[in-house]
Amino acid sequence: MLTQPMTKQKKRRAGLPLAALFLCLGQALPAMAQTTGTQAGSAEVATGAKLYAANCASCHRADGSGGVKFGSAVSADLRAPGLETTYKSSDKLLLRAILEAKDEDGDRLDQPMPAWQGRLSTADAQAIIAYLKTLHS
Ligand code: HEC
Repeated sequence: MLTQPMTKQKKRRAGLPLAALFLCLGQALPAMAQTTGTQAGSAEVATGAKLYAANCASCHRADGSGGVKFGSAVSADLRAPGLETTYKSSDKLLLRAILEAKDEDGDRLDQPMPAWQGRLSTADAQAIIAYLKTLHS
């Protein structure tokens, strides 16, 4: 009589962590899928988040939505899927946009978008791109 309730209780206790694990997986998997294009590790995304906050958020907002006016220019929305569409899902073109301030056709982006070459390394810019891919409108 005593052993049966005890095994039942054991089972229930084991069930809780398992449920928590599935909950975590449910949240982690979509986030992981978003970065498969570059196979970005979470460390790269974390680096990109820091660099973005320090260098880009002042003009493009913390959430990447942009829309800040600078005279006649407006800072761009850097979230997916808009940015990926504009730059034809090409990390190379995005890298050029950040480092050389050139749009998808090679024309100079409007001021005050800076050309980051010299201030950010290629690896820095790549980390920012990995981070931008986690932002969705
Ligand atoms: C001083 C303000 C300012 C800062 C700082 C800034 N940007 Fe911009 N950015 C702009 C403006 C304004 C535009 C819009 C230019 C245009 O439309 O031609 C822009 C455009 C862009 C574009 C092109 C988007 C598109 O749709 O064509 C990218 C990519 C971009 N910024 C990334 C960044 C990143 C990454 C950083 C940080 C490393 C950054 N920007 C920092 C003002 C800024």
